[in-house]
Amino acid sequence: MSSFLSGLKRIAVFASGFGSNLQALIDSQNKNYFNGKIVLVFSNNESAYAIQRAKNSNIKTECFLLSDFNSRSDFDKKIIYMLKENNIDLIVLAGYMLLLGEEVIKQYRYKILNIHPALLPAFKGTHGIKDAFDYGVKVTGVTVHFVDEGLDTGPIILQEPVIIEDNDTLETLEEKIHKVEHKMYPYAVKLFCENRLLVEGRRVKIVDVNKPID
Ligand code: GAR
Repeated sequence: MSSFLSGLKRIAVFASGFGSNLQALIDSQNKNYFNGKIVLVFSNNESAYAIQRAKNSNIKTECFLLSDFNSRSDFDKKIIYMLKENNIDLIVLAGYMLLLGEEVIKQYRYKILNIHPALLPAFKGTHGIKDAFDYGVKVTGVTVHFVDEGLDTGPIILQEPVIIEDNDTLETLEEKIHKVEHKMYPYAVKLFCENRLLVEGRRVKIVDVNKPID
């Protein structure tokens, strides 16, 4: 069902694991923080707690694995079919630990968000928090960006620094990072839903349509 008249964006969240960012998005949606509705949660991991969180909130779930398909291309076709079938306007990657296929990215360019637990382009990949901690940097942080064909390389929407204190452990740093993520991701979704993200090459400008940034 199209949400054209209401202007409500139809959102699919992709998650492979614990789903704390998904939960933050569900909680924000429940407070009408953004003009969108999470209509689908997809996982490539049957035991992802994210799937349970979606079910607890009566959100439709889909789960299939790359290994269920003969080829990557067949898997991607199924993803695109699922997105079209559900009239998805925005894909939000929330701890989705599989690179999206090129065809998916091509069809949904600048309609896919990712959150990364480091200040890109530093510490790309799947262990952003640990890699920054082990490196000994004094400042790390969180990045929300549009997804392109590279690994964590798309145009950056938001970044926020997190200071690593001498007494921080990996666990306390993880807590600090997640706290920032859970505020930043709903805010990025809000900006997208208000059509306030303007991409100019590698730069993403936040357009002040008529509302101030809160
Ligand atoms: C988050 O910290 C997110 O930034 C990270 O996975 C975690 C998922 O947590 N994503 C990446 O590292 C992507 N490269 P969650 O399942 O509790 O939302």
